[in-house]
Amino acid sequence: MTPKLSLRGVDIYPGLIDLPAQTALLDDIRGIARAAPLFQPQTPYGKPMSVRMTSAGRFGWFSDKSGYRYLEHHPSGTPWPAIPPRILRIWDEVGAVTRAPECCLVNFYEDGARMGMHQDKDEADMSMPVVSISLGDDALFRVGNLTRGGKTESIWLQSGDVAVLRGDARLAYHGVDRLRPGSSALLPKGGRINLTLRVVT
Ligand code: SIN
Ligand code: FE2
Repeated sequence: MTPKLSLRGVDIYPGLIDLPAQTALLDDIRGIARAAPLFQPQTPYGKPMSVRMTSAGRFGWFSDKSGYRYLEHHPSGTPWPAIPPRILRIWDEVGAVTRAPECCLVNFYEDGARMGMHQDKDEADMSMPVVSISLGDDALFRVGNLTRGGKTESIWLQSGDVAVLRGDARLAYHGVDRLRPGSSALLPKGGRINLTLRVVT
């Protein structure tokens, strides 16, 4: 499947997921959050992150004062639930790789939440893409370079949009500056959910 846009090498598929499919994904995500409740991670500098998160898959992403890493269990000790088939199908559609994702990170942004510029670099196989699915309120997504700083470009990601970091852009710095509160009616209480699919090993 051909992406419609490229933002500094990041492939963007606007509106790939239609409204009924978005609603179905929300059900899947509620199931994940029942099995593995959302938690608020801390940065290695000891600051609470503004997003709450959980994961599905063999690995879940985690951060605290000891640093960023993948855990094989939720911080409570309970196993992460399996990645729902509907989410795996989106990976197959846009990822176009033979390996299956080992982590589906669920990031929940409430009004005021953001994600500072960073690279996704805790994975072993950089030939595997990162597939990112946006649900709920619009988010201002910024993409920079392979090193910190320099020129950046931004786009408002909307509910149902999918972004893929791969190839030369796999290690591009990226982040979310802010949400546009009230821009989507998908989540009854507003906010945004981002799903990030990754091969970890
Ligand atoms: C991330 O980079 O982990 C999240 C990106 C997004 O929320 O769109
Ligand atoms: Fe990221």
